[in-house]
Amino acid sequence: MLLLAKSAFAAAPHAEMRRIAATVEALPGVAAALACYSEQGQPSLREALLSLRGGSHDAIRIVPLVLPLEPGFLNWMTRSLKRWQAESPGGWPPIRIARDIAGSPLFGSLLQDLVEGAATAPAIPADDAAKLEGSLVPAQKRRVLVCEGGACNAAGADAIWGHLRNVQAHRKLRVTGDGTMTAKATCLGPCNLAPVLQVFPEGTYYGGVTEAAVDRIVEEHLLGGRVVQDFAYEPTGRKQRLRVAADNFPINRRVT
Ligand code: FES
Repeated sequence: MLLLAKSAFAAAPHAEMRRIAATVEALPGVAAALACYSEQGQPSLREALLSLRGGSHDAIRIVPLVLPLEPGFLNWMTRSLKRWQAESPGGWPPIRIARDIAGSPLFGSLLQDLVEGAATAPAIPADDAAKLEGSLVPAQKRRVLVCEGGACNAAGADAIWGHLRNVQAHRKLRVTGDGTMTAKATCLGPCNLAPVLQVFPEGTYYGGVTEAAVDRIVEEHLLGGRVVQDFAYEPTGRKQRLRVAADNFPINRRVT
C-alpha cells in the first residue's frame, strides 16, 4: 500500500506519515504500507514503486492523501506510471489507484468530527501589529523553472518537479557551483514539448523531460555548464515537436 502525499520537508510530517502508514499496515489484507510523495519528499512515488518492482507482492495499491484531487493529478499519475514501466520493464504487479478521499462514504463523518474539534480548539490571539521581518536576498545565479501549465501537468510535471527538488536537496545545489534556485512556472510556451523546463541564465528550453533527463541536466548543465543537447530545444522560429525515434517512442525517453 503506497500512501501518496504531496510534499513533506521537515522531520515532523515525515514522522506523521510513518504513523499513518503503521495504522494502515495493521489493517487486514495489507502486507506493507509505505508513505511516498508526488512532489518534494523521499521516497518519491517513482522511487517507492521501483523499490516494490520484482518483489513478492500480489498487487500495489496507491492511496492519494490529497484534497482536492484534480483530474490532472490522476492523469499525470497514470501517464507517469506507464512511462516508468516502459523505462524499467518487467516485474510489475498490478497497480491500482484508490478513489479520492472526498469520494468515500465516510467522508461526511470525518468532516463532522473535524468541525466539532474546531469548536473546542484554542482561539488564535489577534496580533496587535504585524512585525516587519527581514529577508536574505539570494546569491544564487542559476534558476530552473519547471512548467506546471496544463499540458505539462498532464505529462507528469509534478513528478519532474518532485525529482528535481529531491536532487536539489540531496546535491546541495543551492550552495554548489553558481548556486541554483528552482521554481514552478505557469505555461512556458512550447506545450507540445511537455513536460518542459527552462534553465537560466541561458534560458535553455528542455522538452520531454524525464527523471533521467533531470539527472543529466543537473550534472552537465547546472554543475558542468554544458547544455544537454539530447533534451534541449533551440528557438528556431518554427514549430517543433518532440524528437521521435523510428519506433515512435520519444527519443528523449529511450532507455539506453
Ligand atoms: S503547459 Fe508547459 S509549456 Fe505550456
